[in-house]
Amino acid sequence: MDIVLVGPGRAGHALRDRALARGYRARLVRDPRAGATADVVLLTVPDREIAAVAAAVPAGLWLGHVSGATPLAALGAGARRFVLHPAQSLERDGGSAQLDGASAFVTGSDGAALEFAANLARALDLRPVPLAEDERPLPHVACVLASNALVAMLAASCRLLGRDDALTILAPLATRALANAIAAGSEMRPTGPVARGDAVTIGRHLTALETADPEIAELYRVVCRAMLSLVDPDAAARVAPLL
Ligand SMILES: NC(=O)c1ccc[n+]([C@@H]2O[C@H](COP(=O)([O-])OP(=O)(O)OC[C@H]3O[C@@H](n4cnc5c(N)ncnc54)[C@H](OP(=O)(O)O)[C@@H]3O)[C@@H](O)[C@H]2O)c1
Repeated sequence: MDIVLVGPGRAGHALRDRALARGYRARLVRDPRAGATADVVLLTVPDREIAAVAAAVPAGLWLGHVSGATPLAALGAGARRFVLHPAQSLERDGGSAQLDGASAFVTGSDGAALEFAANLARALDLRPVPLAEDERPLPHVACVLASNALVAMLAASCRLLGRDDALTILAPLATRALANAIAAGSEMRPTGPVARGDAVTIGRHLTALETADPEIAELYRVVCRAMLSLVDPDAAARVAPLL
C-alpha cells in the first residue's frame, strides 16, 4: 500500500512513521496533487484547511481526514471518503510507538468506505471503532475530556502551587492517580475529600480558593460536582450543598 499524507505536522509525522514501521510506502507532503498515484490520501492538515485541500486532491482516490471534530462532508461529495481519527495525543517527534495501543474512530461515506477505513486502521495497528457520521460529536468530546481536560487540571494545579518545582511535586501524584484509575477499570473511583464526604475540608478549600484564585474555585466546584455520582451517596449528600 502506498499512502500519501498531506500536512507535515504532528499527526502527519506520527501516522507516516507508523505506516513506514508497518512496512508500507508512505510519503508526507504539502501538495495534495502528490497523491495522484497513491492508493490512499490522508489529510493531516489543520481542521480549517481540510475542505480546501480535499478539493485539490485528484478525483477518484480513496481520501480520508484524521480530525475528530470535522464532518466527513468536508472531503466533498462522492464515494471513497472516510474519517480515521486516532484517539491519541500526537507529537511530531514521537515516532511510531506513540500510537501503540491506540484506537481510531472510523467513519465512511458508505459501507465500502467504512470497511476501507477500518482495514487501514488495522494495517496501522490501530483498533478501529466504527461510528456513523451523526454519532461523531460525543466521542470527540470524550477524547477532549480524557486528554485536554487533564492537561488543564494539571496546569491549574501547578498554578495554585505557584512554585518552580510544582510539576516535580505534582507529576508523580497525577501519574499514579491516573494509573490507579485505569487499573481499576469500570470500578474507578476518586479518593479525597469528596469521597470521604469531608465537608469541613471542602469548606476550607473553597474559602482559601475564593481569595487566592476565584477561577480555580469555580473549576474545583465543577470537578467536585462531577465526583458526586462516583462516590458513596451518603458522602455525596454531605458535601453537595457546598458545591
Ligand atoms: N495532534 C494530535 O494529537 C492529533 C490527534 C488526532 C487528530 N489530529 C488531527 O490531525 C490534523 C492535523 O493536526 P496536527 O495537530 O497534526 O496539526 P499541525 O501539527 O499544525 O500540523 C498541520 C500540518 O499541516 C500543514 N498545513 C497547513 N495548511 C496546509 C495546507 N493548506 N496544505 C498543506 N499543508 C498544510 C502545516 O504546515 P505549516 O505548519 O507550515 O502551516 C503542518 O505541517 C487535524 O485534523 C487534527 O484534528 C491531531
